[in-house]
Amino acid sequence: MNIEEIRKLFPMITNNSQKKLVYFDNAATTFKPQCVIDKEVEYYTFYCANTHRGDYDIAYQADTHYDEARKIVAKFINATKKEVVFTSGDSMSLNLIAFGLIHLLKKDDEILVSVLEHASCLLPWYKVCDIVGCKIKFIEVDENGNITPENLKKAMTNKTKIVSLAHVGNVLGNVNDVKALAKIAHENNALFICDGAQSAPHMKIDVKELDVDFFTFSGHKCYGPTGIGVLYGKYELLEKLEPYQLGGGMNASFDMCGNVKYLYPPEKFEAGTQNIAGAIGLARALEFLLDIGMDNIYQYENELKKYCVSKMKELDNVELYNSNTPTGIVAFNIKGVFAQDGASLFNRYGICVRSGEHCAKLIHNFLGVDQTIRASFCFYNTKEEIDYFIEICKKGGDFLDAFFA
Ligand code: ALA
Repeated sequence: MNIEEIRKLFPMITNNSQKKLVYFDNAATTFKPQCVIDKEVEYYTFYCANTHRGDYDIAYQADTHYDEARKIVAKFINATKKEVVFTSGDSMSLNLIAFGLIHLLKKDDEILVSVLEHASCLLPWYKVCDIVGCKIKFIEVDENGNITPENLKKAMTNKTKIVSLAHVGNVLGNVNDVKALAKIAHENNALFICDGAQSAPHMKIDVKELDVDFFTFSGHKCYGPTGIGVLYGKYELLEKLEPYQLGGGMNASFDMCGNVKYLYPPEKFEAGTQNIAGAIGLARALEFLLDIGMDNIYQYENELKKYCVSKMKELDNVELYNSNTPTGIVAFNIKGVFAQDGASLFNRYGICVRSGEHCAKLIHNFLGVDQTIRASFCFYNTKEEIDYFIEICKKGGDFLDAFFA
């Protein structure tokens, strides 16, 4: 499929073709291909029933599609089906891990994180530390925003129990060498948790090869529906993880004395009626990505990033913060222009970017600025869109004139 064929598959692109719409906020969420929308509609139209509860044909069909969805997710990250838990999104996955491990932590244990992390990767641990009395420690970050194996080793002590880091940073798009980092954590008997929200949509993920203990991501950033996410865990760890939501569908039995027997993972973590359409839609999105090819996606987005950076470097009114990172995120400011005003200027010309702190409120100390504008590309974006974006960047130096023109 060439880029024009790919773009035709996204109704948000074809339905907006009459007016200028350049969507560069793919790190926040992505447009959905028609096949994903159709798959969700198929569930609601033809076999809308609850899962794992009904003894009739359409319930059996819903079960089959939901279970098939889990298999497809497992294939996408090279896990087994029983290691894949459906959640509401990456935030729920990370919260589930933190609160599910709380019984294995004790006072003065250390959790290693970095200032680059998204709030969802930090705040659950802050709370766990409040409750248990363990401590958060920050690993030093190198000049490109990466956690080097050396810096992780420096931060590890015999009290380190958990290392929790993003695979790809949501502000800078830096890629951590997760395989090397997980190895160091394991040599020190610590668990390695990988937040894959910004990597799963853009590169091949092999949880076995990375040897991470937990890996999490959201459906909506992978061209799938909102309200669905994934928690991968090594099975023996999922067995130890406590569920933090209890109810129907996750227990084998309970009695009047308060004795409860849980189902085995992954069902143990899926209390209540699940986002069935979401899971089925997500699986369709992941099949779509596999058809395009994750290596093709990574390479194409890397080319877009390099192209954009080379053009932005020719502008003297732009400050760039992540020229060297390989994924499709460009973090920048227009000199002398407040980031949100910059984003409003882009919006005036039909370009969607995100501005501010990007839910990663510690990173800006590292960057030395309060806010940034973020343009984030994906495989349906084009060099022509970047050319247009560069033309609007040029107007930024004359921000007020451009805004009111
Ligand atoms: N986590 C999303 C982002 O980085 C919302 O924009």
